[in-house]
Amino acid sequence: MNYHSNLLFLLISLIFSDNIILLSSTSSSESEFSSSCFDVTSLNPKSLNSQKNQSASRPRKPSTGCEVWTKACSEAVLGLAQTPETVSWLKSMRRKIHENPELAFEEVKTSELVRNELDKMEIGYKYPLAKTGIRAWIGTGGPPFVAIRADMDALPIQEAVEWEHKSKVAGKMHACGHDAHVAMLIGAAKILKSREHLLKGTVILLFQPAEEAGNGAKRMIGDGALEDVEAIFAVHVSHEHPTAIIGSRPGPLLAGCGFFRAEISGKKGGAGNPHHSVDPILAASAAVISLQSIVSREANPLDSQVVSVTTMDGGNNLDMIPETVVLGGTFRAFSNASFYQLLRRIKEVIVEQASVFRCSATVDFFEQQHTIYPPTVNSDHTYEHVRKVAIDLLGPTNFRVVPPMMGAEDFSFYSEVVPAAFYYIGIRNETLGSTHTGHSPYFMIDEDALPIGAATHAAIAERYLIEHG
Ligand SMILES: *[C@@H]1O[C@H](CO)[C@@H](O)[C@H](O)[C@H]1NC(C)=O
Ligand SMILES: *[C@@H]1O[C@H](CO)[C@@H](O)[C@H](O)[C@H]1NC(C)=O
Ligand SMILES: *[C@@H]1O[C@H](CO)[C@@H](O)[C@H](O)[C@H]1NC(C)=O
Repeated sequence: MNYHSNLLFLLISLIFSDNIILLSSTSSSESEFSSSCFDVTSLNPKSLNSQKNQSASRPRKPSTGCEVWTKACSEAVLGLAQTPETVSWLKSMRRKIHENPELAFEEVKTSELVRNELDKMEIGYKYPLAKTGIRAWIGTGGPPFVAIRADMDALPIQEAVEWEHKSKVAGKMHACGHDAHVAMLIGAAKILKSREHLLKGTVILLFQPAEEAGNGAKRMIGDGALEDVEAIFAVHVSHEHPTAIIGSRPGPLLAGCGFFRAEISGKKGGAGNPHHSVDPILAASAAVISLQSIVSREANPLDSQVVSVTTMDGGNNLDMIPETVVLGGTFRAFSNASFYQLLRRIKEVIVEQASVFRCSATVDFFEQQHTIYPPTVNSDHTYEHVRKVAIDLLGPTNFRVVPPMMGAEDFSFYSEVVPAAFYYIGIRNETLGSTHTGHSPYFMIDEDALPIGAATHAAIAERYLIEHG
């Protein structure tokens, strides 16, 4: 990839990113992806039925099924997800959540809706974790424990899509699909509950707050979300892939992401007599140039990293050298080591360059405000599990290996603690117009992805327990 396309990729990724918009005001910008088309008709239950073998088409006796995962097990799970009642129930939940978006740590009604559904299904749970979060369980109550997670928060964006279930809250919108994530996880709960007698361990369902801001995942972990859990999985809707296509990759999938803001201080003075002042503009300029050398000269070219200075402010007096200059930006990397190396070097370069020009500098990485996200890394075996489950459930043409992206996601906090896999489900449908990036006010989804997402969650969890018991 040349420098120019790298830059384009970064821009696209920034727009996609889960965590950027709160810090910038460019939420309405978006970028279109061209994407090749898979044959989504092969997801039709009819075509899956036609592949069914003799044993699969016999009426299923629950007590005998799925000691070993078979095609019949995949079909049973998909069948449960695709009954007309389940499909309309999933859509109605998603629409209800969409109409009532709640921001980070304010997901009160959303959490209540989830708990009501869990109560109706007689599924046990612990509440609250991380203020509005829920940890529910289905299965034997014993090991192994496998977790699936959905995020519940919306974004401070005014919805621009005119449709029947448009957000009823001014300035708030589910523009990143977390409404769909919640519905898919409740759908999985229903499927798993009806197959509870088949579970060879315990499925933990995590409904977490504050993915977009506030590191909800980190607080969930602090409140015991991962207790006993040996692996965790989560899905994110993607406008890049046609409806219900599953995509993932082994290793780093999403970047670690941080922000910095530096204050460089000198001595104010009239610009006509610069020798009476200490010029922070010159120091900041040198710092900006030197920051560019961190990635280009210190990082392994095969280890993708980014340092971008995105703001520089010294006021607007044309006749005065200012007292201070503020500069700031963002940095990304795909490994923890590279990420923290960038953080250290950004600080060093700014402070040292400032001192060359007799200025002083402080650098803030907003650690207190929780805007540092580690990289999201899929372990080889959890990724392989997703790939296998998706292919067996939906067919080989409905799974894609996807490239890493420079966006970030707080699922990364779980992936630091236990083996994890994060994957995408396509929601792109040109006919419906669901082609807009996450965090766009025009963002929308093809709801036909909901039952497929619920079935994929359920099959991932049930099969994990069978194969890791
Ligand atoms: C049919 O499915 C059963 C398990 O459900 C499997 O053991 C058998 O090998 C399959 N037969 C064929 C022809 O695919
Ligand atoms: C990442 O690196 C930081 C700083 O070196 C360290 O504090 C943290 O524990 C590391 N995290 C992981 C998961 O290795
Ligand atoms: C897009 O949505 C329309 C309307 O629901 C549907 O008929 C069509 O099959 C969908 N296309 C894909 C590729 O899913």
